[in-house]
Amino acid sequence: MTNRTAKISTGSGDLTYPLLEGSVGPDVIDIRKLYGESGMFTYDPGFTSTASCQSAITYIDGDEGILLHRGYPIDQLAEQSSFMEVAYLLLHGDLPKKNELEEFNYIISRHTMLHEQLATFYRGFRRDAHPMAIMCGVVGALSAFYHDSTDITDPQQRLIASHRLIAKMPTIAAMAYKYSIGQPFLYPDNSLSYTGNFLRMTFGVPAEPYEVNPIVEKAMDRIFILHADHEQNASTSTVRLAGSSGANPFACIAAGIACLWGPAHGGANEAALNMLREIGDVKRIKEYVARAKDKNDPFRLMGFGHRVYKNYDPRAKVMQQTAEEVLKELKLSDPVLDVARELEQIALSDEYFIEKKLYPNVDFYSGIILNAIGFPTEMFTALFALARTVGWVAQWNEMISDPEQKIGRPRQLYVGATQRDYVPAGKR
Ligand code: SDX
Repeated sequence: MTNRTAKISTGSGDLTYPLLEGSVGPDVIDIRKLYGESGMFTYDPGFTSTASCQSAITYIDGDEGILLHRGYPIDQLAEQSSFMEVAYLLLHGDLPKKNELEEFNYIISRHTMLHEQLATFYRGFRRDAHPMAIMCGVVGALSAFYHDSTDITDPQQRLIASHRLIAKMPTIAAMAYKYSIGQPFLYPDNSLSYTGNFLRMTFGVPAEPYEVNPIVEKAMDRIFILHADHEQNASTSTVRLAGSSGANPFACIAAGIACLWGPAHGGANEAALNMLREIGDVKRIKEYVARAKDKNDPFRLMGFGHRVYKNYDPRAKVMQQTAEEVLKELKLSDPVLDVARELEQIALSDEYFIEKKLYPNVDFYSGIILNAIGFPTEMFTALFALARTVGWVAQWNEMISDPEQKIGRPRQLYVGATQRDYVPAGKR
């Protein structure tokens, strides 16, 4: 709280509101009393200038290209930490001591199995169902099986539900992939790391042992870290809004998955690789850049631009380095990477992209790595959802514990018909 204020002059006099300041980043004008005092709303479609909550989890500086999780820079976490350690950090606020991380890993590994009846849910889907359709359905259905962790007023139940969601997402995602290719589900193997277990459930078969490739395991774990949380993005805001009504955590995360699916959000990783493949050759890049700049053409460069980052997305930098490393270490080459690199160079020197401050985002390079590891593009957003579950769960817990939280209920600027009387059909 500061003693500084903001004055709003309306037709009927000046109104004064307190400025609140955070530990870093923009101050906010506390306008909670505006409607009561002025009879007016603020208007901010897309919430471009609106802070919906106080949070201590993730800080983004879009102009400087900074991303901190509980104060730790994303590039340091990606380089030195693990996804489970980052999950603990997001959930509990500090990096775990060795014994705390061991206990967290133990707890999570003991929740990786799904209730056996949930496996039958998959049989209700067509084999070609999009994995995100399956994720929405199965995660929402968890609330039908884990009633002992749906009372959001009980901190212990909230913690168990959080552990269950973090632990079961890899199993659910791997099963969605297995179902789509007609292979049997593999049960979790608790002797493996969180990410190694996911890789085995995804690419292993019952007919032979599966060796986790340490290069792939490290790259996958880093990709999970890069997707773990990102302040009040659309899907996190969806989880918070769903949670503000008191809905159970499984339903809230299912709502987040649904929102993440959109191509403007988490669906961009699938769309970006499809776009790079459609461009196919560096000679065709200029044609697509021209289309992206053409106001009459709905085409956008997928994996480019961001609501907050008006500088390079720090995750995209790490992702590009990882793409180079993985392809080199796996002795793979992918012409799409050449197209991506050239497209980035051309776009970043184009005055349209410079003026609009459009840079590659987290989704621009991720698909190249995921494709090299062996995932089909339809699985990319499911992997994003798997990783973002730790952020959603941390944000949901923070929202429930926030003494200021109440049901989210925005208002509107009404532009429809004013009151008029009903006209019987014969007289219309
Ligand atoms: C994620 O919020 C988060 O943090 C999300 C995320 C997370 O971790 O949770 O970071 C993950 O969703 C990353 C973004 C993935 N989406 C894409 O890559 C899809 C392509 N990008 C765009 O659709 C767009 O950039 C958004 C949706 C990401 C951001 O859109 P904004 O903030 O609403 O900006 P805008 O649409 O108003 O664009 C500003 C201008 C517009 O031109 P004008 O109307 O001002 O003339 O830039 C143009 C846009 O037309 N523009 C693009 C463009 N992105 C914006 N033009 C061409 N190609 C693009 N990619």
